[in-house]
Amino acid sequence: MTTEKTFRIALVGCGRISKNHFDAIEQIDGLELVAVCDLDAERAKRAGEERKVPYFTSLEKMLAESDADVVTIATPSGLHAEQGIAAAEAGKHVVMEKPMAISLTGADALVHACDKARVQLFVVKQNRLNPPIQLLKRAVDRNRFGRVYLASCTVHWARPQEYYDQAPWRGTWEFDGGAFMNQASHYVDLIQWLMGPVESVMAKTATLARHIETEDTGIAILKFRSGALGTIEVTMLAYPRNLEGSITILGEKGSAKVGGTAVNKIEHWEFAEYDDDDKLVESANTNPPNIYGLGHQGYYRNVLAVLRGQAKPDTDGRAGRKSLELILGIYESAKTGRDVPLPLRAQM
Ligand SMILES: NC(=O)c1ccc[n+]([C@@H]2O[C@H](COP(=O)([O-])OP(=O)(O)OC[C@H]3O[C@@H](n4cnc5c(N)ncnc54)[C@H](O)[C@@H]3O)[C@@H](O)[C@H]2O)c1
Repeated sequence: MTTEKTFRIALVGCGRISKNHFDAIEQIDGLELVAVCDLDAERAKRAGEERKVPYFTSLEKMLAESDADVVTIATPSGLHAEQGIAAAEAGKHVVMEKPMAISLTGADALVHACDKARVQLFVVKQNRLNPPIQLLKRAVDRNRFGRVYLASCTVHWARPQEYYDQAPWRGTWEFDGGAFMNQASHYVDLIQWLMGPVESVMAKTATLARHIETEDTGIAILKFRSGALGTIEVTMLAYPRNLEGSITILGEKGSAKVGGTAVNKIEHWEFAEYDDDDKLVESANTNPPNIYGLGHQGYYRNVLAVLRGQAKPDTDGRAGRKSLELILGIYESAKTGRDVPLPLRAQM
């Protein structure tokens, strides 16, 4: 019989991504959903009835009345920092959907609030857990590429106007951000996680076809502190469907590409020296039901292990802040036409 503590989770924001959270929580022994909240009363009721937990239409009320240990935040991105701070101040650990905030000011305030309240802050970056990406990360960490020359990310996805019209927050600067901040943010995260710190970034963005404030297309050129160069090429206008979500690393002793529509398939894997990981290439290819992938469950396993004092967080607030900083650097360059050095000044 296990005597380990079960952690109780309340979730706010019962929209598209909430199902991945509900399913993951349900499948993990040691986690229990205890309350849900959505501003939209219908959605809150439906989620509460389906999951057989109390439902709320106000986060403040849920924080006051539920006895959750952890609050998962899956609301529009522009609300993340403020809601995360409220949860931390109520003494709850925070599982935050990406991006953790849409400004560095918000991200820093959230990190400090969690530090002050002595609660954990987890930022959901489930694509890091895709088996092909895990293999790629190990290849980088074992220096199998030798000196890395170039890393490139491609996100050729399709988001029709109806997707943006589903909710008023989508495609706005105040609550969302554009293709870099929302849809491609995992790729911005992966490239800096795999390649290390970015020294400077230049970018162009454009709103070519969707009626939104933010960009539907963009290109960023990165210079890494290691000396390597990189690109991130993003569009939500691929015809007629999601075509590619990939990352390629080219080095002096190895070349690898993880592609598919959402970094779930190893398309190229070639190294000068053998490693036992080479045997795992075939089995690492996954075929998740959608581009969100299967990583939320793995992510929550880490959350539980951290809360039980058995592991370090896969991505904590400080790790989440690094990829946000790169996204904001991309936006700064697109706005000013300049090469933007990182780290950024805090007030962005
Ligand atoms: N990890 C991933 O791969 C992934 C995938 C999709 C979305 N996301 C992130 O998840 C977040 C939500 O995205 P979504 O696609 O589920 O959006 P959505 O619009 O489908 O859902 C958001 C929900 O939040 C509710 N809401 C809005 N304001 C609220 C408030 N003040 N209090 C309580 N509820 C409120 C809305 O009514 C809605 O039901 C975004 O930050 C997005 O970037 C992450």
